[in-house]
Amino acid sequence: MKIKVYVPSDTTARSLGADKVAAEIQLQAARKGVEVTVIRTCTRGLYWLEPLIEVDTDKGRIAYGPVEQSQVQSLFDADFLSGGDHPLGLGMTEQIPQLANQQRRMFSRLGVTDPISLEDYRAHGGVAGMQKALELTSQQIVDEVKASGLRGRGGAGFPTGIKWQTVLDCDDDEKYIVCNADEGDSGTFADRLVMEGDPFALIEGMAIAGLAVGAEQGYIYLRCEYPLAEKILNKAIAIAYREKLLGDDLLGSGKRFHLEVRLAAGAYICGEETSLLESLEGKRGLVRAKPPLPAIEGLFGQPTVVNNVLSLTAVVDILANGGEAYQALGMERSRGTMPFQLAGNIKCGGLVEVPFGVTLRELLYDYGGGSASGRPIKAVQVGGPLGAYLGDSQFDTPMDYEAFAAIGAVLGHGGIVVFDDTVNMAEQARFAMEFCAEESCGKCTPCRIGSTRGVEVIDKVIAGTEREKNLTLLADLCDTMEVASLCALGGMTPFPVRSAVQKFPEDFVAEVK
Ligand SMILES: Cc1cc2nc3c(=O)[nH]c(=O)nc-3n(C[C@H](O)[C@H](O)[C@H](O)COP(=O)(O)O)c2cc1C
Ligand code: SF4
Repeated sequence: MKIKVYVPSDTTARSLGADKVAAEIQLQAARKGVEVTVIRTCTRGLYWLEPLIEVDTDKGRIAYGPVEQSQVQSLFDADFLSGGDHPLGLGMTEQIPQLANQQRRMFSRLGVTDPISLEDYRAHGGVAGMQKALELTSQQIVDEVKASGLRGRGGAGFPTGIKWQTVLDCDDDEKYIVCNADEGDSGTFADRLVMEGDPFALIEGMAIAGLAVGAEQGYIYLRCEYPLAEKILNKAIAIAYREKLLGDDLLGSGKRFHLEVRLAAGAYICGEETSLLESLEGKRGLVRAKPPLPAIEGLFGQPTVVNNVLSLTAVVDILANGGEAYQALGMERSRGTMPFQLAGNIKCGGLVEVPFGVTLRELLYDYGGGSASGRPIKAVQVGGPLGAYLGDSQFDTPMDYEAFAAIGAVLGHGGIVVFDDTVNMAEQARFAMEFCAEESCGKCTPCRIGSTRGVEVIDKVIAGTEREKNLTLLADLCDTMEVASLCALGGMTPFPVRSAVQKFPEDFVAEVK
């Protein structure tokens, strides 16, 4: 029997040499006359161990990592194909502490399956959600999602079931499902991992959304910086059409759902749902005023569900295992699990899927192992470039939408970017304003002009020019941007700026070198 060796093939693992490692394993096996099947999977999200390779043994999968091409020979010498001892040995993959302590629901197949094998997908619980959805009425599907307590994972945390109900209640003939795969937040990669590592889950989730609201056409709006995800999604979509997970006759039910990928131009504002819809319609990505909500007048003026990749993926598990099982996890009004993404100056960066309620400190130290530099962690930005900077005194806050709102912060898409004590927070505040100036769609004055003036004011503070007066001016500008901007880009830029001024005042009194 051929021995199975799993080597990840996602963007991260590849950038760290996984392709070379896979080729070297094939080469060495051929030289030694050993029969080996190399299966290309996806990362398990343990980035500091990539490329992490796994061998199928009687006991289960045994992991080695991070493996360099030059170390493959020594792995063979140590009989790694039977799980032999080697300095890179990590034991059973599932028992690596940072993985064992997670509760993976959206990412249960990540790194386990071959992403473009529908057979593998089915063998690991895939398609059960769609089968269940086909037995239910549209209203029953929506009720199941409502019962789960799922809130949108794209940033705003709006209840998915309520959004779907709004679209279901519209009696238009034409409706759409749009997947927001623009993933523009700093330090985030969970959407990409779904698309590269478990694409059928997104396809299935979108088809379920279509059945739920009566939509027969879906679009995945994918950022063009994700070329591998595009390739994998298109392969998986072709297979899904062949196997009736998509098309005119879903699993022989006579129900229809069609899906295609559309590439995004790569502007942060195109992740905002109305701007995204403009872009999908072939226009410049300008924010639309709400109301009307996209759920009522969305793509081409028709009722449209716009959901993040993770929200749509979560629905697969919710339909397969029931809304109540999902609702049983989490805290308060934040139910289920959330894939947190650890990035920046962190020792063990990567994906951590756990129920809401875990504290930031647990994520930073128990899962993340502290800073990569070994220096004290000074600041953490949670929720992307518009999220507040948090200091040590806030690290015990539970990861919960409301608990974060109470400290003037947001969870956003679950991105956590870590900075050690060498960071200068005045520079970070300037960066936040500059980011807004750079990415503003230009539709409203507080954001378009305010962010540019904001950079100038922070520059004066940094240079020590009438510091107190300019800090007051900056505070006023932040208030104006928050209350008068049309969308959250201008409206939330004050979050990182204010938090930097308030939490780290010492960085605003000394000149930046
Ligand atoms: C400036 C800006 C950028 C955004 N970028 C994204 C994004 O990249 N991906 C995403 O899913 N949502 C993004 N959102 C949130 C979307 O507007 C929208 O709330 C989300 O796609 C709805 O899906 P959900 O309910 O499943 O979260 C962004 C919002 C704003 C204001
Ligand atoms: S806040 Fe900025 S990005 Fe949003 S609509 Fe106004 S100008 Fe455009």
